Amino acid sequence: MLPVKNIVILISGRGSNMEAIIRAAQTECWESQLDARIAAVVSNRPNAPGLAIAQSLGIPTAALDHKAYPSREDFDAALVDLIDQYSPDLVVLAGFMRVLGARVVCHYEHRLLNIHPSLLPSFSGLDTHRRALIAGVKLHGTTVHFVTPELDAGPIIIQAAVPILPTDDEKTLAERVLQQEHLIYPRAIRWCVQNALSINHGIVHQRDGEPQFILGTT
Ligand code: GRF
Repeated sequence: MLPVKNIVILISGRGSNMEAIIRAAQTECWESQLDARIAAVVSNRPNAPGLAIAQSLGIPTAALDHKAYPSREDFDAALVDLIDQYSPDLVVLAGFMRVLGARVVCHYEHRLLNIHPSLLPSFSGLDTHRRALIAGVKLHGTTVHFVTPELDAGPIIIQAAVPILPTDDEKTLAERVLQQEHLIYPRAIRWCVQNALSINHGIVHQRDGEPQFILGTT
């Protein structure tokens, strides 16, 4: 039997994706199981609501307040020290609202994942739902990708699309996209844990040909 892989999740806020991932790691249902251990949840905001959720699910937590560090480099170095104490096979950004420097990103090359609330490469950066509504696009969604030094530009693992309805506002759209995030993030992590992904010229392939997209409905 292969050794169980360790995952460290980084959050800054409410932690709903984190919770979906922890529950996938803890479920008895083999079909949706992650086959990995969530070694820790780390937040750069000591009062992030997600920390209490992680604790209630029995996961060790740690907070590293970025405001306590004089520079981004100092924070990044302390963060790597902390994360590496848990010997992670995979580091998962789940609503982690700090941009990580190139040294951190390269340290975890091909082991660092992020979820972004848009169909990348459209709408990288912030306020994605508002910008999608203003642009009048008819499909919006979410992307799980490997993290590279360029923001929101790493190889795409899986995407989920949802239609934008005439009645949508930022809140309703965000809710529908979030439901999809909770489906695709555990799936992408499972593929990583199973070594089922390869990257060729920046394109991510799934070994067993499993669909790397979800077409969500309303
Ligand atoms: C999600 O929309 C995710 O795409 C983005 O930050 C949000 C985090 O939400 N990166 P939650 O903390 O997981 O609920």
